[in-house]
Amino acid sequence: MRLTVIGCGYVGLVTGACLAAAGHEVHCTDIDEKRIEQLKAGKVPIYEEHLDEVLKRAAAEKKIFYTSDAGEAIRSGEVIFICVGTPPKETGEADLSAIDHVARQIAREARTPKLVVEKSTVPALTGVQLQKALGAYSRDGAVKFEVASNPEFLREGTAVGDFFHPDRIVVGVENEKSATVMREIYNPILQRKFHCPVHAGKCPNGAPGELLVTTINSAELIKHASNSFLALKISYANVISDLCERIGADVEEVTRAMGLDPRIGTQFLKAGLGFGGFCFPKDIQAFIHLSSSMGVEFDMLKAAERVNKQRIDRFFEKIHKALWVIKGKKVAVLGLAFKANTDDIRFAPALDVIRRLLDEGAEVHATDPEAISRTKPLLPAVKYHEDPYQALKGVDAALVCTEWQIFRNLDWEKAGRTMARRLVIDGRNLYSPRKMQELGFDYHSFGRLNR
Ligand code: UGA
Repeated sequence: MRLTVIGCGYVGLVTGACLAAAGHEVHCTDIDEKRIEQLKAGKVPIYEEHLDEVLKRAAAEKKIFYTSDAGEAIRSGEVIFICVGTPPKETGEADLSAIDHVARQIAREARTPKLVVEKSTVPALTGVQLQKALGAYSRDGAVKFEVASNPEFLREGTAVGDFFHPDRIVVGVENEKSATVMREIYNPILQRKFHCPVHAGKCPNGAPGELLVTTINSAELIKHASNSFLALKISYANVISDLCERIGADVEEVTRAMGLDPRIGTQFLKAGLGFGGFCFPKDIQAFIHLSSSMGVEFDMLKAAERVNKQRIDRFFEKIHKALWVIKGKKVAVLGLAFKANTDDIRFAPALDVIRRLLDEGAEVHATDPEAISRTKPLLPAVKYHEDPYQALKGVDAALVCTEWQIFRNLDWEKAGRTMARRLVIDGRNLYSPRKMQELGFDYHSFGRLNR
């Protein structure tokens, strides 16, 4: 099938690349001409594991094309995936101006009927507005548009694997015709008819994900309800962790035992610095805003958001207690990205930590395997090091902010020899408290017993 992807950010590129790998012909466009030129030259503008190889293969097989001419891209596809950003406004409400702009563009440029699919995360009832805008701006009402909602459940860092091996594919449609089209698009994924770069052709045998056909309103709600629930889970674990510290219990023992109940599940119960990234913080805000505008006060979510914001305060309580005065101290920050395996620093807790350290007069040395170049322009006062051991040289304390594997594997005996003081405050619970103590470290983490 011929598909169009509007918006070549992380969601658009993963969607375009994987649908091309599934055998469709994909035409991608973006308002950012530089980005399109980069893509045409074979450069991937974001770091996402396996994405470059999927894009390279799709380009070689002439399955993916890039153009900065939105009209041309719109006319090329039978189905148009809208993958533009929906950033938060000051109020927490999602800014839908990019979606609105694209809707008017599609209405103006299309010459044949199109199925227009919302892939961007949008608040419920956006589909209704989208349908209205497409109708209002269409050339004499001559071209017919259908709307569908197909929320993505991709995690940054494992997005390609998530796309190829989904737990579920949700398609919200207005009629059976659109459902059939969406099924046709995703059939190669469900039937595993693609080259999987994650498992090198040997994908696990488990049952393929389920394709769920719902109404558009339900599909929109499923996305927000899922992300918000996961955010709730993390905040819940963080409150339990605070309680463990007061009571003298161990959060890992508690959450592991809780999670073994299949009704709860072990995932997303890791205590620490809390959630960041461009999804949870903004989605939770947008959901609170949407609920309130519908007359439903989602107090639970407000609490989860508040708990998450306070994680940085909790971290600083630990830093102050262990390091005492921050002013004039040399501090290493391990990790800038909001989580491991991505270069994304949007709403990253590490950046809030660094800002506060700088405000309090620390000399900050930071390291991250992927996110240094993105952080540098935002925080020029920080000294950056590719090598974590260089970042740790002569520091009074090391603060762990991202759960990268290379930090898990650090040789602390080696690092400790060059640190001014063996002090580690771990915001991601990466190390065994007992082992760190055996190495002579004053070691602090979240909610765990020091044994
Ligand atoms: C999230 C969802 O997991 C995806 O399903 C969804 O499609 C995506 O948002 C989206 O809306 O596009 P993502 O933001 O990439 O994906 O990251 P997650 O892996 O969910 O992690 C979010 C944050 O929570 C990270 O800062 C992570 O460090 C933190 N986290 C996660 C915890 O603090 N504790 C945990 O137990 C798990």
